[in-house]
Amino acid sequence: MDDIDLSCSFLGKKLKYPFVINAMTGGIAEALVINRELASLAAKLGMAMAVGSQTIAVNEPNLRDSFRVVREENPDGVIIANVGAGSDLTTAIQAVEMINADALHLHFNVPQELAMPEGDRRFRGIIDNVMKITEKCPVPVVAKETGFGLSRESVARLFEAGVRFFDCGGQGGSNFIAIESQRGGIFDDELDDWGIPTAVSLAEMVYLQLPINIIASGGIRSAGEAAKALAMGADMIAMAGPLLKILVQQGVDELEQYLHYFLYRLQAVLLMTGSQNVNELRQKPVLILGDTAERLRARNIDPIKWAN
Ligand SMILES: Cc1cc2nc3c(=O)[nH]c(=O)nc-3n(C[C@H](O)[C@H](O)[C@H](O)COP(=O)(O)O)c2cc1C
Repeated sequence: MDDIDLSCSFLGKKLKYPFVINAMTGGIAEALVINRELASLAAKLGMAMAVGSQTIAVNEPNLRDSFRVVREENPDGVIIANVGAGSDLTTAIQAVEMINADALHLHFNVPQELAMPEGDRRFRGIIDNVMKITEKCPVPVVAKETGFGLSRESVARLFEAGVRFFDCGGQGGSNFIAIESQRGGIFDDELDDWGIPTAVSLAEMVYLQLPINIIASGGIRSAGEAAKALAMGADMIAMAGPLLKILVQQGVDELEQYLHYFLYRLQAVLLMTGSQNVNELRQKPVLILGDTAERLRARNIDPIKWAN
């Protein structure tokens, strides 16, 4: 077990685990403590971390501390900045500089915006905007969905726009349409099942066979799911909602313990499949069954050929 090596290189830095604590918070008062604790865990365990949307802090300098604390806690680690895909170039660059980020998330959350009474309604020109930011941004851009998944058509268009890092942010985990429904959003609960499931979004991205770096996220809740995503071709896996819930409801020690055992189980899956590292895990046969296989067939992707 001691010889199982999950280490990886990501954004030019070495990490002990192919794991990202995904974008959640910043700006509000409580976020300072939350981000400090998440960042210290990321540093201690050797994982990457993304901050929540920084737009608010670009506009209001007194809200920047809860983001900067992430870099202070983890001066040498991998940290990802975050703004919406429709943000202007100045906002994007300021977000990166605020935390000396290694990459910039441009998040897509059209369904959530449309479900919110006060949300955005204008998305015209968003791909051109992403292209402009990608050209000028001093660090790589990661196109990121937030729980509804990226299709292969979207990934192909974003690739043409210059993007090389993708977080599929698929359906199956935190669901912002459902969250907005509970807050009395416009969709009621009629579109709660909207989105491309994470496994399908990931398979579609891999199917393109483009030279891209893939983060699998959206409903990753167990080491088995994480291992499956890595075996399917994800370079990294990411988790958001459950980590925040454990931190807020139980505390930082409990979150550290949760991650410790999660990573132990991930190592166990590697050992049980006879893989010493993630590259070897990727050589193992993958079986695509059930709903995922059916969805891929409906998208004209043969799941058996895909897996072989
Ligand atoms: C409380 C909360 C806040 C979030 N805020 C952001 C955000 O500011 N920017 C962003 O790109 N994604 C945000 N997300 C989305 C997550 O980064 C992630 O894509 C999504 O929750 C799916 O992963 P999960 O199922 O592991 O939670 C947020 C998620 C949660 C739960």
